[in-house]
Amino acid sequence: EKGGYPHFMLKEIFEQPRSIYDSMRGRLDASTGRLTLGGLIEYQNRLANADRIIMVACGTSWHAGLVAEYIFEELARIPVEVEYASEFRYRNPIIRENDIVIAISQSGETADTIAAVQIAKAKGALILGVCNVVGSTIARMTHAGAYTHAGPEIGVASTKAFTAQLTVLTMMALFTAHKKGTISEARFRQLLVGLETLPQKVEETLERVHEPIKKIAALFKDARNFLYLGRGCNFPVALEGALKLKEISYIHAEGYPAAEMKHGPIALIDNQMPVVFIALQDSSYEKIISNIQEVKARNGRVIAIVNEGDEVVKNMAEFVIEIPKTEEILSPILSVLPLQLLAYHIAVLRGCDVDQPRNLAKSVTVE
Ligand code: M6R
Repeated sequence: EKGGYPHFMLKEIFEQPRSIYDSMRGRLDASTGRLTLGGLIEYQNRLANADRIIMVACGTSWHAGLVAEYIFEELARIPVEVEYASEFRYRNPIIRENDIVIAISQSGETADTIAAVQIAKAKGALILGVCNVVGSTIARMTHAGAYTHAGPEIGVASTKAFTAQLTVLTMMALFTAHKKGTISEARFRQLLVGLETLPQKVEETLERVHEPIKKIAALFKDARNFLYLGRGCNFPVALEGALKLKEISYIHAEGYPAAEMKHGPIALIDNQMPVVFIALQDSSYEKIISNIQEVKARNGRVIAIVNEGDEVVKNMAEFVIEIPKTEEILSPILSVLPLQLLAYHIAVLRGCDVDQPRNLAKSVTVE
């Protein structure tokens, strides 16, 4: 059942080329410029005319929402708010006629997300679901949606569901932007090609980073703390990397937008502090390089996720992990992979129960 892997989590990490492909299958064809999301066709106009999109979710699914905020705003120019379902439900949230609520949930059974959907529904909002489990409570409650089709996820730590959520949310943003005319046909086509080539790049990435990550895991398995830093659409990836490490290895970890470091967490940095940077050659590159310098100046141990061929960060960081280049908004799907593997290998080396971490359940069906 684990397909020869020692844990479901590792199996699911390595399933990602396939699960991402499955999330696009029958929906996208770059050669003809076709993008269809069956369940959303009748809502394409509503999406294009939305005044605001509110995403509600918990945990890793909330991180997917944060990445999607960058993508929707960039492509479709619609303001997005991303809310913890547990906060949204108790706040008497303001929902207007032209708002659309997107509920993101792997299981479709998370109690807080169910309650958030109920409240938004009672206020008359259009609710769309991005769920993995077909026929789950949230999938049935929403007006329409797009399944992630990642297949069953057994490991408590979400991995393939996250990258499938990102793929589907990106397709939703493109579907909306195309209708709305906020991106050119050429750009639309480029991004379809970017999406279509992702499964191959995910496979390359996993192959390429696995051994180097194992070495880094062995060196840092006894660390007491970890800091993860990223900017732009890779800031939520920093949060996700930290969550993965916390939940399965029980090491305290925090994710931050790199520029926020100066506003507090920089005080934590000394020669005992591993700092994982997502430092890709994108619109944040120069800025993140300065942040790396700030950490180095305080003797922090820099581990950087970089694009292949990067020379600048290579000369600064103690360790670099190279990943292929892709479109900036698609890069979280690649940059999260080494972070999943790092958490996995550290947890295994510490003797933790990777698939069933203490105190955690796969779906949180009580509040
Ligand atoms: O099934 P859901 O996507 O609604 O679950 C939300 C969170 O409980 C979940 O992502 C949790 O944070 C994971 N254990 C993270 O790996």
